[in-house]
Amino acid sequence: MALSPFVAAVALLLVATFSFGWALPTASELLHFREAPAFRNGPSCVSAPTIHIAVTLDAAYLRGSLAGVLSILRHSSCPESITFHFLAIRPRRFRPAVAASFPSLTFDVYRFDPALVRGLISSSVRRALDQPLNYARIYLADILPRSVHRVIYFDSDLVVVDDVARLWATDLAPDHVLAAPEYCHANFTSYFTDRFWSDPVFPRALSGRRRPPCYFNTGVMVMDLDRWRAGGYTRKLEGWMEVQKREARIYELGSLPPFLLVFAGEVKGVEHRWNQHGLGGDNVEGLCRDLHPGPVSLLHWSGKGKPWLRLDADRQCPLDALWAPYDLLRRDGHDDLFTDI
Ligand SMILES: *[C@@H]1O[C@H](CO)[C@@H](O)[C@H](O)[C@H]1NC(C)=O
Repeated sequence: MALSPFVAAVALLLVATFSFGWALPTASELLHFREAPAFRNGPSCVSAPTIHIAVTLDAAYLRGSLAGVLSILRHSSCPESITFHFLAIRPRRFRPAVAASFPSLTFDVYRFDPALVRGLISSSVRRALDQPLNYARIYLADILPRSVHRVIYFDSDLVVVDDVARLWATDLAPDHVLAAPEYCHANFTSYFTDRFWSDPVFPRALSGRRRPPCYFNTGVMVMDLDRWRAGGYTRKLEGWMEVQKREARIYELGSLPPFLLVFAGEVKGVEHRWNQHGLGGDNVEGLCRDLHPGPVSLLHWSGKGKPWLRLDADRQCPLDALWAPYDLLRRDGHDDLFTDI
């Protein structure tokens, strides 16, 4: 018995819909990315540690996430020793895209349930900062398997241009939960509102820290997940988000200020080369920015402007040229990947 073409088409659509999750992936998500070359371990990697890296995946930043992964592999001395942990609201939608670009990658895609933070997000200066997935880093200790004791979290708008094993080797002794580059010249006061500073109780949360509280960027963090779990840090961060949502407007940015409130002054410092941030420009205009002085191991387009959007619009900033070689988006006809990295 032959199915009518119409029934067959409907059946195919249903199968496709259910196998990819709620929405069908668009062509740009799955078909427009190239396969990256395979990166292999050298003989010296026999005793190399497994490096765990967490990155989020969503439609708006997929191109950035894949570029980040490629940059990490490209500069790693033992690329096959890296395990990637991707977080997505719709895991089945993105797994095929990762597998298509990186067929031999060791990875898992975990579901991040946006309901975890729906009631906790208050609107900020920039809509992109209010996306639930932006808060997924708070839940890594819960979502990743207990067998993962340490993870490096990376934002999706950065490229690594150094061996990530150097960052992985960060010493968190004796009892640090987080390591990240700190920026003590930044005006820490300005990350919180007058309402926060004038409160009789809130600012006391920052006293008694090991060192003066300093700004750090949450786009690059080495996290001790065992200490995180033992210390209940997810709840502590949620506690500040509840204050912001229900009690008083104590900050204007998205997921960053709760991290500052919980960890500032308790972060293990990492060399600034591991987060040359701000290349996206400010949160309002996204103007071009230059690198901070000093060496560079990681370029981070935090801020409003993203290199792939500026490249597409032919409004690129000079440093966007450093992101372009890691772009896996297929361009018509020619495959010029790796001619210039
Ligand atoms: C830091 O920021 C606060 C609040 O925005 C401001 O009142 C203060 O003058 C700033 N301090 C410096 C040293 O710029």
